[in-house]
Amino acid sequence: MRPELNIWERSKGLLKLITARGLAKAPEMDSAAQGAELLAPFVKGHNLKLLDVGCAGGHFYHSLVRRGLKVDYYGLDSSPKAVRRARFAFKKLGLDPKRIIAGAVEDLYGFQFDLAAVINVLTFRPDFREPLDRLVDAGVKALVVRDNFGPETVIRWEIDGYLDEGYNHLKGYWNRWSLSEVQDFLASRGFQSALYEDQRTRGQMELVVDKPYYWSWLTAWRQ
Ligand SMILES: C[S@@+](CC[C@H](N)C(=O)[O-])C[C@H]1O[C@@H](n2cnc3c(N)ncnc32)[C@H](O)[C@@H]1O
Repeated sequence: MRPELNIWERSKGLLKLITARGLAKAPEMDSAAQGAELLAPFVKGHNLKLLDVGCAGGHFYHSLVRRGLKVDYYGLDSSPKAVRRARFAFKKLGLDPKRIIAGAVEDLYGFQFDLAAVINVLTFRPDFREPLDRLVDAGVKALVVRDNFGPETVIRWEIDGYLDEGYNHLKGYWNRWSLSEVQDFLASRGFQSALYEDQRTRGQMELVVDKPYYWSWLTAWRQ
C-alpha cells in the first residue's frame, strides 16, 4: 500500500509509542503479555522460527524474552515507518535488524517459519483468509491470533478520524470476523484451534477509534 494511503504511517503519537515499545522503554502491552503466554506451550525445543505479523516496533520480542521463551524472532510489517523503528530498536539492542522484514503478510513468499503471532492485525485486513494462507504456506505449525471475533463477520471500511492533521480522510478496515468461519478455515488447512478470553477486555466491548471491538484469542496448531 502506498504510504500516503496507509493509516499506520499517519499518527505521530502512535509512532512515538511504537519507538518506545520497540526499545522496551514503554510498559508491556497486555496483549503482548497474553500472546507470549499463549504461545509458550508451542515453544518446544530451541531455534523455532517465529514470525510476528504486523510487528510494529518489534515489542513482542521483549515479551518473549521476559518469559524466557527461546525462539528465533522475526517481525514483519507493511508500514515503512514501523519497519524503520523496529530495525532501529534491534540495532540499538545489538540484535540483527535483518530480523525485521518489510512487506505485507499477503505477499509473504519464500520464507519458512514454525510459529506465528498475529496480534491486533487481521481486523485491519480486507479478509482473514489470505494472510492465514500465507502463514500456512510458510510452514507455520502453531499460531496465536488476537482479533475482533464474534458470531458473524461484519466488514467496516471507514474513516479512522484520529490521525495527524490533514490525514483524517483516510479510511481503513475495522472488521469483525465470524469466529466459526475463522475456525472452519483453519480446520480446512489442517489446524485444530482453541478460543481464549482476552484478559484485558474480558468479553466487554472496547471502542477502537470509535468502532466497537470484542477482542478474543485463538490458538491453532497442526501436526
Ligand atoms: C494495531 S497494529 C498492531 C501491532 C502489534 N501487533 C501490536 O499488537 O501492538 C497493526 C500493525 O499491523 C501492520 N499491518 C497492517 N496491515 C499489514 C499487512 N497486510 N501486513 C503486515 N503488516 C500489516 C500495521 O502497519 C501495524 O504496524
